Amino acid sequence: MATKHVYVQVNGLKKHYGDGDARLTVLDGIDTSINRGEICVMLGPSGSGKSTFLNLIGGLEDADGGSIMVGGCDLTVLKPADLGEYRRRELGFVFQFYNLVPDLTIKENIEVTAHLSKKPLDVDDLLRSLGLYEHRNKFPRQVSGGQQQRCAIGRALVKNPSLLLCDEPTGALDYKTSKEILQLMEDVNRTFGCTIIIVTHNAAIARMANRVLRLRDGRIVEDELNESPVAAAELDW
Ligand SMILES: Nc1ncnc2c1ncn2[C@@H]1O[C@H](COP(=O)(O)OP(=O)(O)OP(=O)(O)O)[C@@H](O)[C@H]1O
Ligand SMILES: [Mg+2]
Repeated sequence: MATKHVYVQVNGLKKHYGDGDARLTVLDGIDTSINRGEICVMLGPSGSGKSTFLNLIGGLEDADGGSIMVGGCDLTVLKPADLGEYRRRELGFVFQFYNLVPDLTIKENIEVTAHLSKKPLDVDDLLRSLGLYEHRNKFPRQVSGGQQQRCAIGRALVKNPSLLLCDEPTGALDYKTSKEILQLMEDVNRTFGCTIIIVTHNAAIARMANRVLRLRDGRIVEDELNESPVAAAELDW
């Protein structure tokens, strides 16, 4: 990577759910920074707050304290309309269970978000590079889980986002398909230079990351740069 510019800067980030006896502190003062163009993998046990962290970065939930700077802009002080604009302009989100619209074809699922962007990628080109072009007129239920996840990645990518947030993107996929999806993410990172945060249970995936964050009990217990990431194709678990 050439010169490193901080893209996501999180300071003292706090989040809790519930009140009184039911109060649960999920994020207890998170500090980290992620450079532009990095692949960052966040690991941590179930319930450690990984999805919560991603949702806060994605502007889907409000923080209780601290700041989240993305591209120099503090999300925690943005007005709702500006937060919406941030999500439309900057972000792609990929979920474990794809969240495709069942009544839209593969192509239409991708086109829906293309309209949100001022600089969308060409949908047919993207379908080809996702290996979905011949499936473009099928509905999600007519293609495999891996193809549905490719479509979900396409839907996130067609906006040409600066930041791609992925919550357990391979959690519902078999070994071979998981590796294909990770290779696709690696390709996307190289081709478009987007910053990618991948949340996962699978520690093997951390080997392809530039940065590895490990979350435990609401705190980051490890924040390490990986000087020589392994190609996604070389991962094994
Ligand atoms: N909306 C909510 N209301 C109350 N508690 C919540 C809410 N969302 C999450 N939690 C709790 O916050 C904690 C962290 O949840 P989170 O989903 O961030 O964990 P995670 O690390 O993503 O777990 P997993 O690996 O199982 O997906 C959990 O104990 C969860 O039960
Ligand atoms: Mg989760």
